[in-house]
Amino acid sequence: MRVDVFTIFPDAFTGPLTESIIQRAQDEGKIRIELHDIRSWARDRHRSVDDYPYGGGAGMVMMAPPIVEAVEEVVGRDSESASVIIPSPSGELFTQSMARELAQSARLVFICGRYEGIDARVTELLHGREVSIGDYVMTGGDLAAAVMIDVIARLIPGVIDEESLADESHTSGLLEYPQYTRPHTFRDLSVPDMLLSGHHARIAEWRREQSLERTLSRRPELLEQAELTETDRRWLANHAASDQEAESCRIDRAKRAELPHDASDVEE
Ligand code: 6GU
Repeated sequence: MRVDVFTIFPDAFTGPLTESIIQRAQDEGKIRIELHDIRSWARDRHRSVDDYPYGGGAGMVMMAPPIVEAVEEVVGRDSESASVIIPSPSGELFTQSMARELAQSARLVFICGRYEGIDARVTELLHGREVSIGDYVMTGGDLAAAVMIDVIARLIPGVIDEESLADESHTSGLLEYPQYTRPHTFRDLSVPDMLLSGHHARIAEWRREQSLERTLSRRPELLEQAELTETDRRWLANHAASDQEAESCRIDRAKRAELPHDASDVEE
């Protein structure tokens, strides 16, 4: 896979993409990441890449010409052959399934903005896809692009052990079960006995339940899309009931705490 990153801060990428697994993937030729400084395509002697927003408002907006000309020069005019990603807090949400889809591309292009954003014509002219990595605002798209490249790169065949991919959080739509290693006991906390039983089928079942429990309590909305077996559904039906009970107890307690002390205010 070839990845071209257009940025005004190429140095923001050297750390995240030159360590460990992603560096090895580059050394082994599985992925080639090229960084391009958008300022090299600026048109004036000050190397400006941003300007005031039409319509007014705070901040500066990155101009279209340097970016579009940079991408056309590096990628060619038919940027159709590449997937063009524009990190933006107002983009569609980046997910593991989007990463799996993008990992199929032979060529990815990332266009990173700073300031208040990028002239909207960049997205249109380059057939870009605006993508957000979560519901919060970062100072720019560079770190978000590094995150996406990391997620996508490890899905390229041979970059990491296939077995690790099968079991991890989000692959089946559930969160991963807790992991333990030596020592057996640390600060009075011992590894769950089940993991020492050597009974592989029961360990698998325990781990599955741990995954379901974590997902139910931390990210219940994921359960709607998860790949669930009949056994999973039965487990959830039992536990969702007690989970709801616990929740309604919490609500009752909260309500009681808020009730006015003057009994005449209470409608029965
Ligand atoms: Cl892609 N960019 C910025 N600036 N903030 C973000 C984001 C991207 N995704 C979430 N927050």
